Amino acid sequence: MESNYIEDNFKKISLFKDEKVFEPDFIPKKLLHRENELILLSRMFFPLIKNPNSISKKILITGNVGVGKSVTIYFFGKMLEESAQKRNLKIYFVHINCRINYSSYLVLKNIVDKLKINIPIRGVSPIELLEIIIEFLIKNNAHLILVLDEMNYFQKKDFNFIYTLIRINETKKYQIYFLSIIGIVKELNLLKNFDESIKSPLQNEIIHFRNYNIFEIFDIIKDRVNLGLKEDIISDDLLKRICELSIDSGDIRKSLKILKNAVLYSEYHGFKTVTMDSIRISNAEYISLDKDQLSLLNFHELLLLKSICNLIQNTKRNNLTINEIKEEYFNLCLEKREKPRSNTQIWEYIQKLRTYDFIQSEIINKDIKGRKCLIRITNYPIDEFKRQLEVLINEK
Ligand SMILES: Nc1ncnc2c1ncn2[C@@H]1O[C@H](COP(=O)(O)OP(=O)(O)O)[C@@H](O)[C@H]1O
Ligand SMILES: [Mg+2]
Repeated sequence: MESNYIEDNFKKISLFKDEKVFEPDFIPKKLLHRENELILLSRMFFPLIKNPNSISKKILITGNVGVGKSVTIYFFGKMLEESAQKRNLKIYFVHINCRINYSSYLVLKNIVDKLKINIPIRGVSPIELLEIIIEFLIKNNAHLILVLDEMNYFQKKDFNFIYTLIRINETKKYQIYFLSIIGIVKELNLLKNFDESIKSPLQNEIIHFRNYNIFEIFDIIKDRVNLGLKEDIISDDLLKRICELSIDSGDIRKSLKILKNAVLYSEYHGFKTVTMDSIRISNAEYISLDKDQLSLLNFHELLLLKSICNLIQNTKRNNLTINEIKEEYFNLCLEKREKPRSNTQIWEYIQKLRTYDFIQSEIINKDIKGRKCLIRITNYPIDEFKRQLEVLINEK
């Protein structure tokens, strides 16, 4: 046998103390910089602890990907359970990710498991199951706080179920309030498929998680470095470079992933520390398309974005003027037999594409008379981007 590659791995010195610290679902010991959100949540739910079953809360949490919405709610759940336990109150906190648990059946199954209701649930209809859960809660004088995380992923054909959940404590049928709901979603726009009757009760109270600033990102990532890496693997200076890469999105998951890959890269090449090069390479691998955001664009916004891609490919330039873009957009409209939108409208679309970070723009002062706006795409490889756009355009 030539070489045993498994044995080779044993000989390599690992730079990690604990690799799973960098996984997105790792729960840290401390939650940093979300005190205000925890205080707000505690105030909102305090009536429940003070006077159990006196109220049915419905709130919505919004904020970008990776800004700590899920982890903060996890910590809040622990706090609530602790306070409830101290007072012998039966408060159940069920945190459901609707990306994984996307149907009424799956949500109900999670609740039944958490409440330890001992029934075979096969063959029982969702409505019957819900009745059993309600009966259990009322009989035990208990309150269920249901978190529907990433609720925009819930499947459309079961929207009625969400509607029932949200309204159930508003009828006079039951004497006590036994259910509160916390919805979590990146932005309100993503709930566009839901009926007003589902959205409006949730929208009464919204907590928006703002993006972290550079110092906060640094603190959070530094904490993981201390937990997960051996000593002196990365300098604070380089760590700051990694944090800067997530400053626009505020996405801690991104920093963690870039950091982990940079460490893996260094490890693989036998370096003893993380280098700037390993960070660059790791970042280039990370950038991938946010398909959720892309699906929020309307037909003409997609066409406009495609014109920008076409131009970058054809001209091999990454700085385009609005006039050039308009011309290409008109061509595409002609091809699709669509009436082009007005100048004002096109300008608004450009602003939206910028907000979503699909394009970047720069205003340059050409001369005293005119200011010129240049448009470019820096975040995505154009070929792949265009392919995605075409799929969506053809679907519309
Ligand atoms: N304030 C924080 N303190 C410690 N870790 C955090 C904090 N905010 C986010 N994280 C970590 O960043 C990652 C993304 O957070 P997450 O709660 O999943 O974001 P979101 O739900 O907003 O997409 C997780 O690994 C989480 O543990
Ligand atoms: Mg989340």
